[in-house]
Amino acid sequence: MMSNPDFSDRFREALDSEDSLVEAAVSRDPVTTFAESVARGLGAARKSLDCRFLYDAEGSRLFEEITAQPEYYPTRTEAEILERHAGEIHAMTGPVTLVELGSGYSVKTEHLLSAYAGDDARYVPVDVSAGALRAAEQSIGDSFPEVNFTGIRGTYASAFRVLRELSPQMLVFLGSTIGNFEAHERRAFWHDVQAHLPLGDWFLLGADLVKDRDTLLAAYDDAAGVTAHFTKNYFARMNRELDSGVDLGSVEHRAVWNDSLDRIEIYAEFTSAQAIRVAPLGRSFDVGEGERIRVEVSQKFRLPELTEELERFGLEARSSFTDDRGWFGLLLLQRVREHASS
Ligand code: AVJ
Repeated sequence: MMSNPDFSDRFREALDSEDSLVEAAVSRDPVTTFAESVARGLGAARKSLDCRFLYDAEGSRLFEEITAQPEYYPTRTEAEILERHAGEIHAMTGPVTLVELGSGYSVKTEHLLSAYAGDDARYVPVDVSAGALRAAEQSIGDSFPEVNFTGIRGTYASAFRVLRELSPQMLVFLGSTIGNFEAHERRAFWHDVQAHLPLGDWFLLGADLVKDRDTLLAAYDDAAGVTAHFTKNYFARMNRELDSGVDLGSVEHRAVWNDSLDRIEIYAEFTSAQAIRVAPLGRSFDVGEGERIRVEVSQKFRLPELTEELERFGLEARSSFTDDRGWFGLLLLQRVREHASS
């Protein structure tokens, strides 16, 4: 994805005007981007797919449905923590601009905004979905008309480019989205936060915590089958956009707890052999009967280790909050110094 060269200028103008949505990315042909990602993943010895592509319109709808399932505790647990501690968080940071990465419909953020709205706060949600940003603008405009809303339609990287303009701020990254990253990607992400967040600014991070295996497995394999549908939608999307020709009846959802890595891994297991096409590239990949393709990882964290990791990137924990069962963690951090090692 290429960045639009004058995005920072347009963003600065938007802050002073009525513009409520700034387009950051000049995307290459999105189907080619998807095709190349799928071909890379299916060409590997252990096949895997990039979980970012789970979220087309249908996938985003299915994820919302997952969050309403009784087994899927993260969303409602994090919302409960935010609701309970928003006032305390506000008391610590004082009035700051809220910049939220991957804001989606900003539903949970409304708990935070209720504590910050009195400051005539500014809210800068960042998401790749223009539809989600428009819906968020509508609902926040109704609940908090005094909040200045300037959305960025773009990637996290585009947001990092304008953080300097937004100090004093609190960068907000909720939903344990960080759990989708591999360890090296996560560390690269902390490095980027550290490199772009001005000294003294705040970082609010939601992280799902290690807990008993049955609770975890149920959360990723709900009885109503919504998560299974979410996994299968990856292949339905490939059929729609890449003419992949996958027999969806042969795709089974498998959620596995990896005990040595503290993470849920989600696989599509094929009950029959397939040749999966990536038509835009004129390529095809063989998948054997019983073979698994990994579509997602969902890392679970231990607060002491996570806090220590962040500290190594100059992000110091000022407070941490959990629910009564200790299932989900919310860390309030502050950027204090340059990254010591590199
Ligand atoms: C949006 C990445 C936080 O890992 O819990 C939920 C995605 N996948 N069920 C998670 C997801 C299957 C979710 N995150």
